[in-house]
Amino acid sequence: MHIPVMVAEVLQYLAIRPEGNYLDATAGLGGHTCEIAQRLTTGLVIANDRDAESLEMARRNTAAWADRIRFHHGTFSALPGALAEAGLETVNGLLADLRSSRYQLTDPQRGFSFLADGPLDMRMDRSARMTAEDLVNHTAEKALADLIYQLGEERRARKIARAIVRARPIRSTLHLAGVVERAVPRTGRLHPATQTFMALRLAVNEEQQELDKLLELAPRMVAPGGRIVIISFMSLEDRKVKEAFRSLGRESRAVILTKHPIRPAEVEVSENAASRSAKLRAVEMK
Ligand SMILES: C[S@@+](CC[C@H](N)C(=O)[O-])C[C@H]1O[C@@H](n2cnc3c(N)ncnc32)[C@H](O)[C@@H]1O
Repeated sequence: MHIPVMVAEVLQYLAIRPEGNYLDATAGLGGHTCEIAQRLTTGLVIANDRDAESLEMARRNTAAWADRIRFHHGTFSALPGALAEAGLETVNGLLADLRSSRYQLTDPQRGFSFLADGPLDMRMDRSARMTAEDLVNHTAEKALADLIYQLGEERRARKIARAIVRARPIRSTLHLAGVVERAVPRTGRLHPATQTFMALRLAVNEEQQELDKLLELAPRMVAPGGRIVIISFMSLEDRKVKEAFRSLGRESRAVILTKHPIRPAEVEVSENAASRSAKLRAVEMK
């Protein structure tokens, strides 16, 4: 089961109004959606995700509040369509929780994890075209090294890319993890393939481009007085959110509510280790 992160902080910064309309852009298994829905009377929450299987689970997990929830399957680029489908032009709050869900990361069939063997997939949306297997087996060595270096912030990217190209075709997660492990020795606590897997996941799902799209669309979808709350887990993403919110502040389009990112409380980190790198930022639209 996926445990939603920073629930109290999300609710505080969204400042839910019972008659308000909300957009959970990354509904996952429905943890935050459920918390928002419970606080509504006449309001609505649109639960969006690009992962159809997760949405199906969210639907089951939130069944008690079904009358207040509209589900939408799509990427961030399709969010205006999600609003239109619900008969809305704007919402009073938008939440994005940018991590992959625990379900995605741990189901071997989804191919995100090097802890169990599975196909090299890593697509959050299984109807999308490109898989990690395509990237690993068909990208030129230099481009692969650049990708692992830039998205995985992996200093040993060249060595890893060379080893991958020599070992092709690579068909499974454990096969890839083994190739990386033999190419670069373990230096610390982390498995040596951690950053390579992260880079591939980001590339397969075009996560950087998607976040740019979200940051461009969100201010237009949230009504004056409404809030945008974004939780990120990587410095690359938090930097983008910080910059986008700062420029909204400079242009007097929004008020920044979090001068510094809000971090989970110690007790949450001790109960849910996955929350430890979460950073929450919020703005209120003018
Ligand atoms: C951390 S999970 C969300 C968990 C959720 N807040 C909960 O409490 O259950 C992040 C979700 O965002 C989805 N996601 C990531 N990028 C997306 C995008 N660009 N468009 C739509 N959904 C996306 C993933 O498929 C994943 O299910």
